[in-house]
Amino acid sequence: MVKNNISNIMIIFGGTGDLTHRKLMPALYNLKYQKILPENFAVVSVGRRDKTEEQYRKEVLESVKNYSRFDIDEKVWQDLSERIYYKRFDFVYDNGYMELSSFLKELDENYNTKGNRVYYLAVAPEYFGIIVEKLYRHGMVNNETSWQRVVIEKPFGEDLESARKLNKMITDVFTERNTYRIDHYLGKEMLQNIMVIRFANVFFEPVWNRRYIDNVQISSNEIVGIENRGGYYEKAGALRDMVQNHMMQLLTLTAMEPPVNLDTESIRDEKVKVLKSLEIFTPEAVEKNVVRGQYAGYRQEDKVSPTSNTETFVALKVHVENFRWAGVPFYIRTGKRMPEKSTQIVIQFKPLPGILYFKEYKNLLPNLLVIKIQPEEGVKLQFNAKVPGAGDITIQPVDMDFCQNCQISNNSPEAYERLLYDVMRGDSTLFTRWDEVEYSWKFVDAIAEAWKDKTPDFPNYQPGTWGPKEANELLLRDNRMWWNV
Ligand SMILES: NC(=O)c1ccc[n+]([C@@H]2O[C@H](COP(=O)([O-])OP(=O)(O)OC[C@H]3O[C@@H](n4cnc5c(N)ncnc54)[C@H](OP(=O)(O)O)[C@@H]3O)[C@@H](O)[C@H]2O)c1
Repeated sequence: MVKNNISNIMIIFGGTGDLTHRKLMPALYNLKYQKILPENFAVVSVGRRDKTEEQYRKEVLESVKNYSRFDIDEKVWQDLSERIYYKRFDFVYDNGYMELSSFLKELDENYNTKGNRVYYLAVAPEYFGIIVEKLYRHGMVNNETSWQRVVIEKPFGEDLESARKLNKMITDVFTERNTYRIDHYLGKEMLQNIMVIRFANVFFEPVWNRRYIDNVQISSNEIVGIENRGGYYEKAGALRDMVQNHMMQLLTLTAMEPPVNLDTESIRDEKVKVLKSLEIFTPEAVEKNVVRGQYAGYRQEDKVSPTSNTETFVALKVHVENFRWAGVPFYIRTGKRMPEKSTQIVIQFKPLPGILYFKEYKNLLPNLLVIKIQPEEGVKLQFNAKVPGAGDITIQPVDMDFCQNCQISNNSPEAYERLLYDVMRGDSTLFTRWDEVEYSWKFVDAIAEAWKDKTPDFPNYQPGTWGPKEANELLLRDNRMWWNV
């Protein structure tokens, strides 16, 4: 593999789609704006719609205007737009690939890109296998003097079995090293910050274990419902859409052991160990530890069955069964139509022994560390302090609050900027390795299996609330509560 040469042509399959317009093209523009995009670079978008290159570039410009975090700089845009090409063909037929292959060779001459390729599959999952196989058949992969990488969007399968089949199709053609399974959560600034906070601060590292931590709460909430994604969401539900990927990634970064170094594989090895340590639920354990919900009104959404049993909310309690975490519950919660949009991790510390203040003052709150992932990015530490004044001592919780996107810059890089750049430079640390996908599915499949034969009593929560009451009971039972901080 030619690792340091980042010159490349990016081929976006699904170039007329929502993801390309809202995320990928604005990210490429932002990289160009920051002078990070390689000099030797071009992008070829493939779609089915009939349009000229000029039309396509105009549409991309509109998307960049709407979704990029930087204003349009004429010179930067001009330079990028001249490198954007549009090819129209249907993924399932061979002739398109033949033409594409010779066109890419021409571009190699013009841009000195030396055969390096990023194949970005921004397409529905049923096309992943077809495209990869055709790339191989048309000699567009495994050129010895250059590199070719494939980027696969989520969802990666709909259960372990389908994920395995998909993985086989991809790895028959691309090596694991050249396969980039994207989970855009991993590109978010604060996610990358979790390891730094844990392993670069003496405040946190020594107390990050069962002796000091009472429980961990990982939640990702949205105010919106399913918007226009009824067709997709009906098959996925919150368990597959959120828990299998994003929530498991947050869990692994929170619970992993320190890696031996910062190399990609060392980090991924530790993440996988967390997933291997998760208890796999029996149907009885699912009954006890997992709550599913559906908001009132979901069944009336476009492309949703009026009798749908798809969950729009999941809350669960799981243990990471290793020495560091034995006995510490991890509570996970994700839902749509919640009261607020927020993704965060709350670490609740154990109380001090019941002497002095913990003896005299009955209602002291625990210490909390809150890692805020989105939309606010930052860290908050809640601890007890004396209210100023003479007379009896009153103790109240106070906050030390670091708001990253207020203080460092109000313009944090988009996840896709980081991720696209990492693909070009061959760094797969922020992408999911196959065994991470595999163990996440094992965990999630056990829940899906237990749910299969039981009809839930849906809908069971009102929009704008924190989900069904059973989600609160899950913690109340343990004398705990969700921290909506
Ligand atoms: N949108 C997001 O924010 C988002 C976020 C995370 C993951 N994803 C994933 O990203 C992928 C793409 O999502 P999307 O929202 O961009 O989908 P989309 O808007 O429906 O776009 C699909 C794209 O595929 C093209 N296409 C479909 N069938 C084709 C065929 N037979 N031949 C050639 N082109 C074909 C479409 O071209 P035409 O329209 O020209 O026919 C269009 O460019 C999906 O796997 C999705 O799950 C999307």
